Amino acid sequence: MSSVRRFYDDLAADYHRIFQDWDTSMAAQARVLDALVGACLGAGPHRVLDGACGIGTQAIGLARRGHRVVGTDLSPRAAARAGTEAAARGAVLPAAAADLRALPFGSATFDAAICADDSLAHLLTPGDLSAALTGLRRVLRDDGLLLLTVRDYEEARRTRPTAPPPQLSTDADGRETITIQLWHWHDDGERYDLRHIQLTGQGDERRVRERRTTYWALTQRQLTSFALDAGFTEVTWHAPDSTGFYQPVLTARRGSGQPADPAATARAQR
Ligand SMILES: C[S@@+](CC[C@H](N)C(=O)[O-])C[C@H]1O[C@@H](n2cnc3c(N)ncnc32)[C@H](O)[C@@H]1O
Repeated sequence: MSSVRRFYDDLAADYHRIFQDWDTSMAAQARVLDALVGACLGAGPHRVLDGACGIGTQAIGLARRGHRVVGTDLSPRAAARAGTEAAARGAVLPAAAADLRALPFGSATFDAAICADDSLAHLLTPGDLSAALTGLRRVLRDDGLLLLTVRDYEEARRTRPTAPPPQLSTDADGRETITIQLWHWHDDGERYDLRHIQLTGQGDERRVRERRTTYWALTQRQLTSFALDAGFTEVTWHAPDSTGFYQPVLTARRGSGQPADPAATARAQR
């Protein structure tokens, strides 16, 4: 089993604890993403794929705003929880396990496709990233909209932080979770291993869980170049200041031309 799948399967039951208040975050994120979808595609509802839906943070909010959303994720446990959490909130969200690199949908099935919160940064090689973006383009209708949200790694690549500030969240029943991240940078200066440590509960009853995964700290320039090579057009970055989203958002349209041959582009750029 891939280490990414293991990481998120293991985290699925606790994932909401990353947020101060998951329901509030879901609603706030959906407001921003819905506005971007509306600005690009006009009034919906639209057919939306969330290809890295996790437990449904963006997919549930978008479904509650009236879109016809389908959620997929590498982690079967996360996808299953997304469906259950949606139903508990009166939303319809068909959700299933699927790998972004091999999406199980026909061509032109969706008006919009999203991958939020650094999901693409789990793809560690140019080949995997290209496969995911080419697949997302294939399942979008002509001129359909791609939305990616990714941490701004420019600064991190320069300063190579090893321990971002810990986060504290508290359940409705008062149970605390402290989340600590430790980053170990690879020699290439682009990828890092994450130790994700969660302390849940109080005092002697505190439970500690540690999980590990790896990220590729992609710069906006790198991701733009991969999106163009995959055949997307109008690639635009929206800064948090302009959207109110907590991390930068890339929007791009499914161009109708043929994707560039990445090898040819790389040769031309030399
Ligand atoms: C940081 S989580 C974000 C989940 C969700 N979008 C959210 O904000 O709650 C990253 C997600 O990407 C998923 N993921 C990573 N690699 C994937 C792949 N190759 N195919 C599909 N999902 C993938 C993980 O399983 C995980 O659920």
